[in-house]
Amino acid sequence: MTDPKRYLITSALPYANGPKHIGHLAGAYLPADTYVRYLRAQQKDVVYVCGSDEHGAAITIQAMKENTTPREIVDKYHAMLKSNMADLGISFDIYHRTSAPIHHETAQEFFTMLNDKGDLEIKETEQYFDEEANTFLADRYIVGTCPVCSNPNAYGDQCERCGTSLSPEQLINPYSTLSGKPPIKKSTTHWYLPLDKHEAFLRQWILEDHKEDWKANVLGQCKSWLDMGLQPRAVTRDLDWGIAVPVTGAEGKVLYVWFDAPIGYISATKQWAIDNEKDWKPYWYNDDTKLVHFIGKDNIVFHSIIFPVMLKLHGNILPDNVPSNEFMNLEGDKMSTSRGWSIEMDDYINDFVKPENGGEQMVDALRYYLTAIAPETKDSEFTWKGFQDAVNSELVAVFGNFVNRTFVLMHKLCGGKVPVFHNEIMDEKDKQLLQDITDTKNSIERLIEGYKFRDALYEVIDLARKGNRYMQEKEPWIVAKTVTDAGQPTPEAQARIDNCLHICLQLTANLAIFIHPFLPFAAKKMCYMMKVVDKMLDWENAGKVKLLSVGYSLRAPELLFRKIEDAEVTAQIEKLKLKSQKIKMEGTTTGNGQPTTDNGQQAKAKETVIKETIQFDDFAKIDLKVGTILAAEKVDKADKLLKLEVDLGFEKRTIVSGIALHFSPEEIVGKQVTVVINLAPRKMRGIESNGMILMAEDANGKLQFVNPDVAVENGSGVS
Ligand code: MF3
Ligand code: ZN
Repeated sequence: MTDPKRYLITSALPYANGPKHIGHLAGAYLPADTYVRYLRAQQKDVVYVCGSDEHGAAITIQAMKENTTPREIVDKYHAMLKSNMADLGISFDIYHRTSAPIHHETAQEFFTMLNDKGDLEIKETEQYFDEEANTFLADRYIVGTCPVCSNPNAYGDQCERCGTSLSPEQLINPYSTLSGKPPIKKSTTHWYLPLDKHEAFLRQWILEDHKEDWKANVLGQCKSWLDMGLQPRAVTRDLDWGIAVPVTGAEGKVLYVWFDAPIGYISATKQWAIDNEKDWKPYWYNDDTKLVHFIGKDNIVFHSIIFPVMLKLHGNILPDNVPSNEFMNLEGDKMSTSRGWSIEMDDYINDFVKPENGGEQMVDALRYYLTAIAPETKDSEFTWKGFQDAVNSELVAVFGNFVNRTFVLMHKLCGGKVPVFHNEIMDEKDKQLLQDITDTKNSIERLIEGYKFRDALYEVIDLARKGNRYMQEKEPWIVAKTVTDAGQPTPEAQARIDNCLHICLQLTANLAIFIHPFLPFAAKKMCYMMKVVDKMLDWENAGKVKLLSVGYSLRAPELLFRKIEDAEVTAQIEKLKLKSQKIKMEGTTTGNGQPTTDNGQQAKAKETVIKETIQFDDFAKIDLKVGTILAAEKVDKADKLLKLEVDLGFEKRTIVSGIALHFSPEEIVGKQVTVVINLAPRKMRGIESNGMILMAEDANGKLQFVNPDVAVENGSGVS
C-alpha cells in the first residue's frame, strides 16, 4: 500500500498458559517491534496492539495440570507475559487481554452481526465425545497422529510440528487428553463459518492481489489450503470457559478461541483509544489504514484465510500483509517449553537482564542475535555459541568498537569536542564513507519496508565495519605523531585528524538512528554519550551528516555491549540439558507432550530414550527380511563376534554379529532372524559383513532374536 494514512500493527496474542520462549519472541514480537519503532521514528500514525489470548483448551488444560482454575492461570501468565515483553523492549501501545469485558462485548457483537446477516451456518453433527469425562472433545482435548507429518502428538485443531491446521476427524488413532481413551461420537449443534463460499474471493485477494508482496512461505501455505478445498469451519465449542455464544438456547456453548482471539486486536484498539482519548474506528474501517499482522508459522491460515473472511463479512479492512516467520530451533532440536528444550523469556531476563549482569545491554544483545538469525525464509537455529560469537565478534568487536574508538580518539586528539571539517582537504575515502551512509539509509528503508529485518540489520553492522576500515586507513593516531617543535600535531596533521573524527562522529550519530529500531537501548545510550536528545533518532535525520555541531563537547564513551564469556555459554547449555532431563524424568507424557495429570502414574526410574520422529519415507528406506542361520562360528581373536551364514531365500549371506557372549554357535543354527539387508557392507576382523541381525535387549542387557512368532519363508519382508 502506498502512503497509508495510519498503521495498525499487531503481534499474535500469546496464550496465557505458560511462559513463552525466545522462539516466540523472534517470530511475532521482535520483528513487529522493530517495524513499529521504525514507523514511529518516521512520525507515522501507528498503533501497535497485542495482549494475552485467554480462552480455549490451551488454558483449561493448563488449569487442570496445575490443579487450579482457568482464571488463576490467565491472571498468572498474563502478568508474566506482559512484564516479560516490557522488559525485552517490546513497545506495545497496549497489551490487552481477551478476558476483559470490552473484548467479550466486541466478540459477541461481531458474532451477532454475522449470525444475523446469515453469514454463518448452523449444523447438527456427530462429534468426538469422552464418555468418562462427559465432554465433547475438540482442539487440544483430542490428540492423534498428524495425517501430514505423522507426528503422533497432533492436536485436534493443529499439528504443532508441521503447523498444519486440522480438525479432529483428520487425526489418525485419536484419543482423549482427559481419559486417554478413544472417543465415541455424539451429536451436537454448532455455528460454522462457510469458508467454501469465499474461496473465489480468497484466491483473488491472496494469490493474485498479494502475489508480489506477501512472503513465499505465507503464499505457499495459503495456496495449499485453497487447493485442498475449503470447508465450513465451526466457530463455537461445547466448553465452559470462553465467551458465551450470544444466542438464546446456546447455553453451555462458547465461541471458538480462534474466532474470538483475533477480534482481540479490535478490542485492544478500542481500549487503547479509550485510554488515549482517540477514535479507534478509522484503524479498522478506513481503507487508508495499513493493517499488518506479525505472526509465527503456525498462525498463517488463521490470519490470512479465516480472520480475513470474518473481517470482510463484518465490514472491516483487510490486512495489507501477514509477515510470518518459520521456526527457530535450539541447539539442534525443536524448541518446546513442554519438553523443557527452550529458553524462556522469563529465564533469559532473570539470567542476563539484571543490572549486575549487564541490564538493558543484554536485552539488545538478545534482540541482536534473534534478528541476525531470524527464521525469515526458513527455519533457523539458536545456539549459545552462536549467540556468543554474534555478540562478541559483531556487536562488541565491530559496532561497539567503532563507537568506542571514535569517542576515545575524539577526546584524545580533538579535545573532547566535535572537530571542524576542512572541506578543502576532503578526499575520496571521506566521500565514499559519506556516500555509504546515504546508501545504507536507502537500503535499510527498502529492507524494513519489505519485512527483511535480518538483512536490514546486516546493513547497519556493515556500515560500522566500513567505519572501522576508514579509521584504520586514516590512522589518526599515527597522523598525530607529526608534531611541531612544541610537540603538538602540525596544522596539516590536525586538519586530517579533524576530518577523520568529524566524519566518524557524524557516522556514529547515523549509526544510532539506524540501530534504534533494532536495539533501542544502545541507541539511547549513544544519544546520551553524544549529549543529544532522543529526538535526534527521528528518521528524518537519517543520512544527514551535520547532526553533531562543530565545537560541541561530548561525554566520555560508555560501554555499549559486553562480551559473553565461555563460562556463560557452558552454564546455559548445562542448564538447558538439566531442565529437559528433569522434565523427562518427572512424568510420563501424554500425547500432547505435556506431563500427565494422572497422579501416581509417575515415570519409571529408568529413562527410556526415544529417538527423534522420522518420516515414513525414512523408515521405508530400511529393507528388512527374514532369514535362517545356516552356520555359525567364532571369529578369531574377537571374543564378541560370530560369523554367520544366513539363508535369505534369494541368496545366502555372510553376516558378522556381536553376539558371541550371549549365544554359542551351536544353539543358534537353524534359528530364524530378522535382517537389515541393505546396510552398507562393513569389514570386521577382515570379514565383510553384509547385513545386520535385529536383536532385542532387555534392561539387564540380555539379548533375544527378533523373529516371527511362527516360522515364515526365508526372504519374507518385514514392515
Ligand atoms: N494464541 C495463539 C497462539 O499462540 C495466537 C492467537 S493470534 C490471534 O498460537 F489472532 F488469534 F489473536
Ligand atoms: Zn503434522
